[in-house]
Amino acid sequence: NSKGIIFDLDGVIVDTAKFHYLAWRKMANDLGFDITLEQNEQLKGVSRVHSLEQILGWGNKTVSESEFERLMTSKNEDYLARIAHMDEADLLPGVKKVLDYLTENNIPFALGSASKNARPILKGLDIEKRFTAIVDGNDVTKAKPNPEVFLIAAEKLGMAPEDCIVFEDSVAGVEAANVAGMISIGIGDSEILKQADYNFADFTEIDIDFIEKILRK
Ligand code: G6P
Ligand code: MG
Repeated sequence: NSKGIIFDLDGVIVDTAKFHYLAWRKMANDLGFDITLEQNEQLKGVSRVHSLEQILGWGNKTVSESEFERLMTSKNEDYLARIAHMDEADLLPGVKKVLDYLTENNIPFALGSASKNARPILKGLDIEKRFTAIVDGNDVTKAKPNPEVFLIAAEKLGMAPEDCIVFEDSVAGVEAANVAGMISIGIGDSEILKQADYNFADFTEIDIDFIEKILRK
């Protein structure tokens, strides 16, 4: 096999995307404004720092450096409290079937996530050891839509970028995969993720035939 697969984490493997939204929204509400679901789409895949910059901009807030740090810390504590009790049952529907197929067929796969919480989350889901490589928010200096995270993942898989297939739920992530020259598969609303090479609402719509086909392509 000459192809590698790269998974985003939040909103692809596990349904943490809604908890990121709830935690940011609570923070914004405390500051006296709100974030819409539409605005939240622009936060998906975006690093913690850039998310906060974006949100403060929407609320027309300027804060000191120390207040910025405090907001990031308290958002993350709130987020971690919301996801504290995760286990295998929190894998998004259909994901396990695909991971099992890849594992059984020795097809290498990597994580390419902006999150600095990725490793503890994968541990909680009991799938950390199944990844050939894990590249997360602690390993990159340039956030999605910059392709850095996926390019490092490809290198760790020993694959050329054009032989990598990326599963993404975010606009920024699909763009990053496309810029890297990889095959992008959008998971979620196909209107929002229209730049992806392929679109699926979720993993229950992806059957093994499709995976086999794309691995052979
Ligand atoms: C993912 C999520 C974003 C989140 C980012 C950083 O890309 O889609 O919503 O802001 O990771 O996550 P972290 O867990 O480090 O705050
Ligand atoms: Mg995501």
